[in-house]
Amino acid sequence: MSKLDGARVVVTGGAGNVGSHIVDAAIAAGAERVVALDALVRGVPENLHEALATGRAELREMDIRDRMAVRSAVDGADILFHQAALRWTRCQEEPRDCQEVMVDGTFNVLEAAAAAKAQRVVLASSAVVYGEPRKLPLDEDQPLNGKTVYGAAKVANEQLARAFAHLHGLPVVTLRYFNIYGPRMDIRSDYTEVMIKWLDRIDRREPLVINGDGSASADYIYVADVVRANLLACEAQVTDAIVNVCSGAETQLRELAALLLRLTGTDVGIEHRGSEPEGALPTRRVGDPTLATETLGFTAETGLEEGVRRLIEWRKEALAGAGSR
Ligand SMILES: NC(=O)c1ccc[n+]([C@@H]2O[C@H](COP(=O)([O-])OP(=O)(O)OC[C@H]3O[C@@H](n4cnc5c(N)ncnc54)[C@H](O)[C@@H]3O)[C@@H](O)[C@H]2O)c1
Repeated sequence: MSKLDGARVVVTGGAGNVGSHIVDAAIAAGAERVVALDALVRGVPENLHEALATGRAELREMDIRDRMAVRSAVDGADILFHQAALRWTRCQEEPRDCQEVMVDGTFNVLEAAAAAKAQRVVLASSAVVYGEPRKLPLDEDQPLNGKTVYGAAKVANEQLARAFAHLHGLPVVTLRYFNIYGPRMDIRSDYTEVMIKWLDRIDRREPLVINGDGSASADYIYVADVVRANLLACEAQVTDAIVNVCSGAETQLRELAALLLRLTGTDVGIEHRGSEPEGALPTRRVGDPTLATETLGFTAETGLEEGVRRLIEWRKEALAGAGSR
């Protein structure tokens, strides 16, 4: 039987992309009650439309910086999925906000989970902790060379989780997500991901802009796979584990651009401008999924072509106001 069956579940960042899908999955797995905590800085209530309609989910608009509010919301929880975070660009612009939300806020969440004697905490980390890879694919033993404020906060989160696992016997699994895409990605703000920016340009009949030759790469993982990794982490017997959640496939920007053009049937083309910007993020990234398979039994199932096809369909419906799935 699933640990989620009959469980009281809390999902921080529960109105966001990954968080809202976890809410849906927890309900589908038989959770008695799912509380989505979200300050709604990026997530939107529409993401929880169907979950709220079941009568078993609740959206609590609150900030994880509020220690007492977190304590009260997590009180009585059996399982906690911690997804709340700021976007990495916001952390670069406002490092103190990053510290307060992602480090102090995560401390509040772990402290509350320990007080509630939660049976399982699954924590969202990021491949950004690795920074420039020493070798590819990135496995979990590689040094943490990240140079971003967001990455530093995620390292702090991972280490706090480990400390709580040892201090209070809190059963924690930390997942290092690679580049997530799929339905419920942010399609409305200025701070959105490259796939969405390019789909917007395709709608405007403008060429897809790539800085440099487009050889920069990433490991794209479909959101439903990320959710499945969370559920497996919830069921796993391990504790104090840190694993990659990646597809294991490296995709160059120019390959991604070509795929979007093909799937949308457009001929706006690709425009190369200048050179790859010197940035805080690495130019190549691909994860090694071996440990996730060994530890959690997780392997990504949705290929990039199928996942992007579903993203395109969802975006079309969402922009037409037809729903948020
Ligand atoms: N999307 C990716 O590619 C990616 C990659 C690696 C790691 N991650 C991590 O995965 C998790 C989920 O990411 P996502 O893509 O669903 O992001 P998201 O922005 O859609 O969701 C995060 C949610 O946290 C909420 N939030 C922010 N500050 C808060 C606060 N102070 N109190 C309460 N809620 C707050 C936001 O409103 C948002 O709904 C995050 O921890 C993120 O850092 C994401």
